[in-house]
Amino acid sequence: MTALLDIHLTVADADAALRADARAGLTAHPKHLPPTWFYDARGSALFERITELPEYFPTRTERALLERTADAIAITSGADTIVELGSGSSAKTRLLLDAFRRARSLRRYVPQDVSEPALREAMSALAADYPGLQLHGVVGDFTAHLDRLPAEGRRMVAFLGGTIGNLLPAQRAEFLRALRAALRPGEAVLLGTGLVVDPAVLVPAYDDAAGVTAEFNRNVLHVLNRELGADFDVEAFAHKALWDARNEWIEMRLVAQRAMTVALAELGLTVRFAAGEEMCTEVSAKFRRPGVRAMVEQAGFAVVDSWADPDERMALTLARAV
Ligand code: SAH
Ligand code: AVI
Repeated sequence: MTALLDIHLTVADADAALRADARAGLTAHPKHLPPTWFYDARGSALFERITELPEYFPTRTERALLERTADAIAITSGADTIVELGSGSSAKTRLLLDAFRRARSLRRYVPQDVSEPALREAMSALAADYPGLQLHGVVGDFTAHLDRLPAEGRRMVAFLGGTIGNLLPAQRAEFLRALRAALRPGEAVLLGTGLVVDPAVLVPAYDDAAGVTAEFNRNVLHVLNRELGADFDVEAFAHKALWDARNEWIEMRLVAQRAMTVALAELGLTVRFAAGEEMCTEVSAKFRRPGVRAMVEQAGFAVVDSWADPDERMALTLARAV
C-alpha cells in the first residue's frame, strides 16, 4: 500500500486565510463568515453526527443514489483514479471505490480536504480496508488549489454531498472554471447537488430537534476564540436556518441574543453586535436539474448522465471535460 499526503495548505496559510476572512467578514455590513471554518476536528465530527440525524436527508439520500448508480458510474467514467474534493470521512465514497473495484478499474484514490484531521482519519481507515489501493491525500482548499491536484491516472473528480451549494454563485462559477482547467479532455466529474424541495422538509434538515446543527454552526465561534484569541460568548448566539426563496438557498445565521462587544486579540480588532443582529455563516444552495446541466456545460463539461432519487431531493451528474 502506498500512501502519500500533499500539504497545499500549511498551518501558516490557513492562519493567514482565517485572519483575512474574519477581518473582512466581521467588519462587513451585514457580518458574515465563510463556512470553511466550521471544519476543525470538532466541526468535522459534528458534521458526521449531522449526517445521521433523522431530519438531515441529503447524506442518506445521496448514499442510496450511489448504491443504485455506482456500477454505471464506474463503467461510464472510464476512470482509474477517483479524486474527491471536500472528502471528509470518505464514508459514501466507499460505494464508488467498491464499484470501481468490481469494474477492475480502481488504481488510486485522491481525497482532498481542508481539514487535515478528518483527512488523516479517513485515509488510515481506507488504508486498512482497501489494501493495494494507492492513496494520495491532499490537504488543500478547493477554491484555491485545484491547479495543484495530482495528475496521475485517468481521473474522475467527485464533489459530493451538495457541497458545491456552499459556494456563492460567483465562487461556484470560478470553482467550475478552475476545475475544468485542471482536467484533461475526457476526464470526468461526478457532482452531487441538493435539489429544490419543500421548505417544510428542507428547513428542519438545517435546524434539527437535537440541536446538533446549532452546535455545528456555533463551532465557528469556538474556532475564532481558539485561533484568533477572540472572546465570543458562544452560548450568547442562537442558531437560525431560513429558506431564501429568491436565491433558492438555505441560509444559516448566528443571532446575537444581547448587545455584545467582542475582542479578537490576534487581529487587534473589536467588533460590536447589536441585540438581535444576525451574521450569515453558510449558504446551502439547492438546484433544479436543468440549472445543474447549464452550470456544468457553461464551464466546459458535457453531461454524460444524471440521476435523482424518486423524491427528487438529490441529484448526481456525471460529466466529461470537453
Ligand atoms: N463530501 C462529504 C463531506 C461533506 S462536508 C460528504 O458528502 O458527506 C464538507 C467537507 O468539505 C468537509 O469535510 C470540509 O472540511 C470540506 N471543506 C469545506 N470547505 C473546503 C474548502 N474550501 N476546501 C476543501 N475542503 C473544504
Ligand atoms: C457540507 N454541506 C453540503 C452541508 C450542507 O448541507 O450544506 C453542510 C451543512 N450545514 C448544515 N448542515 C450541514
